[in-house]
Amino acid sequence: MGHDHTHVQEFFGARAADWDARFPDDGPAYAAAAAGMGLRPGDSVLDAGCGTGRALTALRDVVGPRGTVLGADLTPEMLAAAVRSGRDAAGVLLRADVARLPLRAHSLDAVFAAGLIAHLPEPATDLRELARVVRPGGRLALFHPIGRAALAARQGRQLTPDDLRAEGMLRPLLAGAGWRLVSYVDEDARFLALAVRED
Ligand SMILES: C[S@@+](CC[C@H](N)C(=O)[O-])C[C@H]1O[C@@H](n2cnc3c(N)ncnc32)[C@H](O)[C@@H]1O
Repeated sequence: MGHDHTHVQEFFGARAADWDARFPDDGPAYAAAAAGMGLRPGDSVLDAGCGTGRALTALRDVVGPRGTVLGADLTPEMLAAAVRSGRDAAGVLLRADVARLPLRAHSLDAVFAAGLIAHLPEPATDLRELARVVRPGGRLALFHPIGRAALAARQGRQLTPDDLRAEGMLRPLLAGAGWRLVSYVDEDARFLALAVRED
């Protein structure tokens, strides 16, 4: 059964037009995250919850002209903003739910997901769907251009120990979904968790 995504679409639909202007300085952080995923020229990568496509050009730079870059998002206004900014030149945009991807099993080398997992209704199941589409040995990068503490402060909330992205929560969550956490960085200037798809 699919979920009702009205809330996500309304929330991000209202923010799509201003999204890039709100975070104008994040480009280098996305580029560094994309470059650190272990992708090679010719690889296939999905930006899950791509929003306005802020990562697409950086991902294209690492996979090169023969690689495949896909961006999937549920919110039409986000994808429209990606087209307006010309970022659809760097990758193919799909209006799709990352929990039900229109992709074959093992068809990708990696998934990049920035600011996504906190918005997933069923992270354990949804991370398993991301594992389905990635080949064994492929990668998942969970990224955010600021760390957990800085994000909580920006959103005016306390960071609680049951936070999904706390290392002690994330590692078993990923393991249960077919991913082995191989590196974890949570500092003011970035959050980056890298995982490898188990066989
Ligand atoms: C915080 S924004 C991040 C956007 C972009 N990755 C970035 O870093 O600028 C989260 C995005 O995830 C999308 N999203 C949330 N749940 C989704 C789902 N189940 N499937 C696809 N996209 C989803 C939202 O529409 C939104 O564009």
